[in-house]
Amino acid sequence: MCGIVGYLGKKEKKEILLDGLSELEYRGYDSAGIAIIEDKKLSNFKAVGKIANLREKTKNFSSDGFGIAIGHTRWATHGKPTELNAHPHLGEYSYVVHNGIIENYQELKKELQKEGVNFLSQTDTEVIVHLFEKYYMQTQDSFDAFKKTISRLEGAYAILLISKADTKTIFFAKNGSPMLLGFDKKDIYFASSDTPIIGKATQVYYLEDGEYGYAQKGSVALFNRDKEVTITKQALVADKTLAQKDGYRFFMEKEIYEQSDVMSDTMIGRILDNSVYFEELDATFLDTITAIKICACGTSYHTALASSYLFERLAKIRCDVEIASEFRYKEPLLDKNTLFITISQSGETADTLEALKMAKKAGLKSLSICNVDNSSIVRESDTAILTRAGIEKGVASTKAFATQMMVLWMLSVQLGQKRNTLSQEQREVEIEAMLQTPKALIVTDTLHHKLNRLSKRYLHGHGFFFIGRDIFYPLALEGALKLKEISYLHAEGYPAGEMKHGPIALADSELFTIALMPKSMHYDKIKSNVEELSARDSTILAISSEPFDLADDFIQTEHDSHPMLEFFEMMVVTQLLALEISIRLGNDVDMPRNLAKSVTVE
Ligand code: M6R
Repeated sequence: MCGIVGYLGKKEKKEILLDGLSELEYRGYDSAGIAIIEDKKLSNFKAVGKIANLREKTKNFSSDGFGIAIGHTRWATHGKPTELNAHPHLGEYSYVVHNGIIENYQELKKELQKEGVNFLSQTDTEVIVHLFEKYYMQTQDSFDAFKKTISRLEGAYAILLISKADTKTIFFAKNGSPMLLGFDKKDIYFASSDTPIIGKATQVYYLEDGEYGYAQKGSVALFNRDKEVTITKQALVADKTLAQKDGYRFFMEKEIYEQSDVMSDTMIGRILDNSVYFEELDATFLDTITAIKICACGTSYHTALASSYLFERLAKIRCDVEIASEFRYKEPLLDKNTLFITISQSGETADTLEALKMAKKAGLKSLSICNVDNSSIVRESDTAILTRAGIEKGVASTKAFATQMMVLWMLSVQLGQKRNTLSQEQREVEIEAMLQTPKALIVTDTLHHKLNRLSKRYLHGHGFFFIGRDIFYPLALEGALKLKEISYLHAEGYPAGEMKHGPIALADSELFTIALMPKSMHYDKIKSNVEELSARDSTILAISSEPFDLADDFIQTEHDSHPMLEFFEMMVVTQLLALEISIRLGNDVDMPRNLAKSVTVE
């Protein structure tokens, strides 16, 4: 998501900003920009797309005297990814970069517009710079104007502001979005995480919520609620990879923990007034469709399968799902009124891309759900919804799966709205559950510790069966896939009701059953299926909010007011189980043998 870099000192500022922003690229962004004041001269550059585009625009610019500089990578939330919407945002003579969301920006914007301020962008951020200039006009005191500005803001922010009114100072504030200060001799750095300043700064201070202040040559004044605060610096780590992992052992582990946060990003701007709204879908896009077909591979196929239950249940529309590599060669019958959806984390999976081309050739409308903007699948589709998970480095997909699932759930509700298949009350239930999802995804120390201890009992045996019903069947498939990908143990996902039609023959104490037992969906049915396995001595790990006596091991979940909340909480449990087993087996969690992150061959 968005990233911030800032610098005050004598070094070449353009390079510090561009290098720093490149370090934040892994978070995902769709435009970037920098603003520099040196010798009272203000320079500003912005570009849509990659940092390379910004580099190209600034190739004839240099800035190596004393000066102040701010830079930003933007992931569009309010307004499209255009140069006008890219940060830094300009007032008359000041620039601002901002991460987070100013919740009361519409109210502030109206107030400023009434006073004659002209807005150039569609962003929430622009109000900050205009407020600053309004207060500066009144007081001619830049710090006082900055303080007045932040006192008007509601929501989350990390802000850097520079102005021609005070060409030797960077103003900063943090509330709810990360920001840190870096120090090296007289040089002062700012960043939204430490990777951009590793190798540059030697010491660091991580700002707390509510802190703000200003930096000038070699010094920083820091405040909290009007009181000056002492800065306690600490040494900055020197290893970039370690820093990118934020202290986690593996990227996959970090990505599991990130799921709660990225889920909020997936929803931002898409839930308005108790309705789901995707600006990517124009008003008529879904009008003529009478059925849905989804093609995907691997983990993305599992979200597709889970969503088919939601589309049929909530939007009452037929939904078929196919593995892309099978679809390609079966000579499928395609109907022009079918919406063709492809799902892909990377947007480059060869089989999925080919399936999409076939559907387009047959005249179907196409929609892709993808984590990588401008990827081949996104470009090939009529339209795309981005999942906003940020770059996923672990080969075993976690947060991409979670955000795909959220987008599909939201889409099924949007279709339900459009087709009038959901009452107002049902829609509110779904939306309330969506808003609760980030909570269900929080990894607690107790849970992680328990799975770490449990994992040592599940390192042998002749196989794992993950079982579930309804949407928990695709989740069982996904749990099994996660385990096999990184532990190299044999695991299968199975519909719980199917076990007695064959696989139960394998049951003995060396067969491990991971039972997904949601309280809010078919609990009694799955309970009977697990009892059948227990009677045949299978070793059972039950995951449920309802205590289950026959389980050998039990993980108690908390969020059972809606099946999707149970889905997401159980997803985290299965991910952590796979992670801990793999670590105990000494495997390379992030780069498992024989697998690639992006499968561009068929
Ligand atoms: O990038 P895609 O989502 O299209 O990739 C599809 C599969 O290759 C991918 O989901 C694979 O199964 C992952 N390794 C799952 O963890």
